[in-house]
Amino acid sequence: RSEPIEASEVKSEAAKRVKIGIYFATWWALNVVFNIYNKKVLNAFPYPWLTSTLSLACGSLMMMISWATRIAEAPNTDFEFWKTLFPVAVAHTIGHVAATVSMSKVAVSFTHIIKSGEPAFSVLVSRFLLGETFPPSVYMSLVPIIGGCALAAVTELNFNMIGHGDLTFYDISVIKVNYLGLERDLNNFALLGCLQNYELSCWPSISGFMGAMISNLAFVFRNIFSKRGMKGKSVSGMNYYACLSILSLFILTPFAIAVEGPQVWAAGWQTALSQIGPNFIWWLAAQSVFYHLYNQVSYMSLNEISPLTFSIGNTMKRISVIVSSIIIFHTPVQPINALGAAIAILGTFLYSQIREIFYLHHVPNVMFSHRYQ
Ligand code: 3PG
Repeated sequence: RSEPIEASEVKSEAAKRVKIGIYFATWWALNVVFNIYNKKVLNAFPYPWLTSTLSLACGSLMMMISWATRIAEAPNTDFEFWKTLFPVAVAHTIGHVAATVSMSKVAVSFTHIIKSGEPAFSVLVSRFLLGETFPPSVYMSLVPIIGGCALAAVTELNFNMIGHGDLTFYDISVIKVNYLGLERDLNNFALLGCLQNYELSCWPSISGFMGAMISNLAFVFRNIFSKRGMKGKSVSGMNYYACLSILSLFILTPFAIAVEGPQVWAAGWQTALSQIGPNFIWWLAAQSVFYHLYNQVSYMSLNEISPLTFSIGNTMKRISVIVSSIIIFHTPVQPINALGAAIAILGTFLYSQIREIFYLHHVPNVMFSHRYQ
């Protein structure tokens, strides 16, 4: 090989790294903004089925306008494409709505800690449902992920199960406390140091926990189906995600109407507008637009990176979301929970590294397979 060719290879490798760095930074930043506005909206308007539907509707509309105005080239799809996309969209819909329900019940940080266990779900589904086996080291690497998640979650569940204790991973600005027969804002209680003898239902924590777990499971299936569906297709990452949004919107809308419905939405809307003012509409628009944008950038980045790199990037993303949401929403965190979260996140890195060692040469570089590993 001649010198100039090697030099140009080094240059293009460096350019690729810069491009991936930009993708990652954009993806994480968009995701942090989404998570903050999503939680602000859910605090004021606790109807996650509607907000999930609106984020899909907004993304679908943005993409249809882009196609109509030729800002983006419309994909060339056939019936077969939509048929193979259907199971992906079902799983995407379930994962999306379950994560949103979770975030409507508990702190954003809590949901994301549980969601950092997604790789563990991937291994378990592959093992027990697809019959794929892994070396013992892969299974061992799941121990810190599951153990760390358990430590991060344990006082949260315990707190609500027994009805008293310390607050962990809660967005205290939204919790109302029944103290001596009167409903009060827990935030003020915390400041007053009056954290005894209050009553809370255990339901929010359990549904918050279960929502994040269901989301993990659904996204693993979404990834497996995507991998199969994308094989041999020439639709770009951006358009694939757009089609996924449109189909998911059709699937979710009737369920959102059945579970929540226009009557509660109208009442909730009035309350939110009277409490927040017109800013509420901007928050709703921001969460919907940023939801689409972060997902679109994440799917676009898949064209450039391996599944494993994506999986590491996704965990890194959760760190920025957890840290920023704890700061912004003043989420109280106990040392044991922080330790659990750190162990879970480090465990995910360990898992990624071990899988890289064993599978580096076997992981097919199929688009969208990243989350499915
Ligand atoms: C959603 O609403 O779909 C979730 O916030 C998705 O979370 P994730 O993209 O971080 O897995």
